[in-house]
Amino acid sequence: MTRIIGVVSGKGGVGKTTIVSNLGALLAQEGKDVAVVDANITGANLGLHYGLISYPISIHDVMKNNASITDAVYKHSSGVDIIPASLSFEDVLETTPKNIKEGLKSLNKDIILVDAATGLDRETLNAIEMCDELILVTHPELPTISDALRTKTIAKKYNKKILGIVLNRVTGKDALKKDNISSFFELPVIGVIPEDHIIRKSIEAKNPIVLRHPDHKISSEFKKIAYNILGKKFKAKSGILEMVVNAIRNDVNFLVESYKLK
Ligand SMILES: Nc1ncnc2c1ncn2[C@@H]1O[C@H](COP(=O)(O)OP(=O)(O)O)[C@@H](O)[C@H]1O
Ligand SMILES: [Mg+2]
Repeated sequence: MTRIIGVVSGKGGVGKTTIVSNLGALLAQEGKDVAVVDANITGANLGLHYGLISYPISIHDVMKNNASITDAVYKHSSGVDIIPASLSFEDVLETTPKNIKEGLKSLNKDIILVDAATGLDRETLNAIEMCDELILVTHPELPTISDALRTKTIAKKYNKKILGIVLNRVTGKDALKKDNISSFFELPVIGVIPEDHIIRKSIEAKNPIVLRHPDHKISSEFKKIAYNILGKKFKAKSGILEMVVNAIRNDVNFLVESYKLK
């Protein structure tokens, strides 16, 4: 059965689209049949994160009943299917948000990630309504957190399951720490993405960081979130110190075993 997972926040510009584009690519790499949907119909940009710039049919056409959902699906080289929103101002003005959950389910994907709009208007509520589960994104700062709390309250009203919080743009100098934020929301923190210029560079290159720099520590953080979604245990790649410790431990075990034999 398809899981429709929305990435939501209270405030705009917190990293939802960046998170959707990276998780989409990772889940596809994990062998899942994945689609990402731009439900931010007044501020489309999910396609751009993947380098999808020109597309004749978009989610706007589907919402206007001018096209079927299958016509609005574009395959990315990473394996993820993209359902973009139109960049045209005319489409924005002409389109009323419409719940296309049934259409999305009919695609028979394993996972569909929904890039939501922000604010408390019809567009955002429509995106939330389409989802079964949600991931709440915030920065570790009070105004963004208070906006995110409003979104959490709405999600609860709609009876949506919230998988957890992703803290984005974490600097290490933030006054609010992961554990405080987790207890404030009464939700687990499932990802901590540091503030890093490399994210902006990847967006400029129109290629998610997990594809451009798969070994970067930020890509590992994204992988941790993807594994959480899949219910898989995440094991970070060993650092140099861990490799040395493991090598010594193996040698000691070997010595102990060989003494036993004598
Ligand atoms: N961890 C990060 N470090 C640095 N810049 C980031 C990070 N995450 C996002 N950004 C920047 O913030 C901008 C907004 O991110 P975006 O994913 O578009 O947010 P939203 O979809 O919530 O509006 C991006 O264009 C990028 O430049
Ligand atoms: Mg966005």
